[in-house]
Amino acid sequence: MKGIILAGGKGTRLYPMTKAVSKQLLPIYDKPLIYYPLSMLLLAGIREILIISTPEDTPVYERLLGNGERIGVRIEYQVQDTPRGLADAFILGADFIGSDSVCLILGDNMFFGQDMSRTLWNAIAKIETNGGACIFGYPVKDARSFGVVEFDKTHKVMSIEEKPKEPKSNYAVPGLYFYDNRVVEIAKNVKPSARGEIEITAVNNEYLYLGELNVQLLGRGIAWLDTGSPEGMLKAAEFVEAVQSRQGFYISCIEEIAWRRKFITTEQLEAIGMELKMTDYGQYLLSLVEEAKKND
Ligand code: G1P
Repeated sequence: MKGIILAGGKGTRLYPMTKAVSKQLLPIYDKPLIYYPLSMLLLAGIREILIISTPEDTPVYERLLGNGERIGVRIEYQVQDTPRGLADAFILGADFIGSDSVCLILGDNMFFGQDMSRTLWNAIAKIETNGGACIFGYPVKDARSFGVVEFDKTHKVMSIEEKPKEPKSNYAVPGLYFYDNRVVEIAKNVKPSARGEIEITAVNNEYLYLGELNVQLLGRGIAWLDTGSPEGMLKAAEFVEAVQSRQGFYISCIEEIAWRRKFITTEQLEAIGMELKMTDYGQYLLSLVEEAKKND
């Protein structure tokens, strides 16, 4: 399975914060926002990753993450000239996807929780064994700004609605999607919506129509944090700070995950830690190395 992070968009809803900088490069507490979705792909064990962004921002992501070698993965980049909708990721990424299945994660989606890794692995196992699509439903107080799952009385999924004025449930669809290879063809055939975008929701509804859409409901033990407003970003940062300072474990530390997944060696982790040793982040990496050496 391959992974795509969509980090495009104009970020107009966060102006002036995002006038000169892509939203997914802004910090959430101590790391760029894109580290959080990137860490989900790493936790899932996905090592071939495509980052899609604007002509102006793509070089900046390249400066931040390079070819991925540092964390033992392969990262490629694809420019999106104009934001045409989320499903465009599969059209732009068609060559990268090749004949594989694919996970799409939106560059501004943050998840945290003990069950997250298992949730990711289960989704991949489902797609790789049976094909189809796997998306999630997450309870939110106000679902109007999301894709929303409509269920019938027996909890069967009836449809996914994009940003409905009157949501038929409080289950929003987070920006984390798993598809078999047919998604490329399906995306190519999606007609633009009223707002002129080729919607991911249309792709999901096509899989539903084919009887191959799996919607997993996420429980309250998983945090899906909102980064869609300055307030959401501040709260997300406070969440990360609170957990990290309390537990002493970092959230979405890409080098740590790469190391725990054995994408990089303890020596490689130590080299990165030494480079960053003047920061708490670097000291954290060095503390992991220390711990590993003690247990050796
Ligand atoms: C997009 C999708 C929406 C989904 C949301 C998750 O909306 O269109 O279905 O629920 O991401 O973050 P956006 O917030 O990009 O408008």
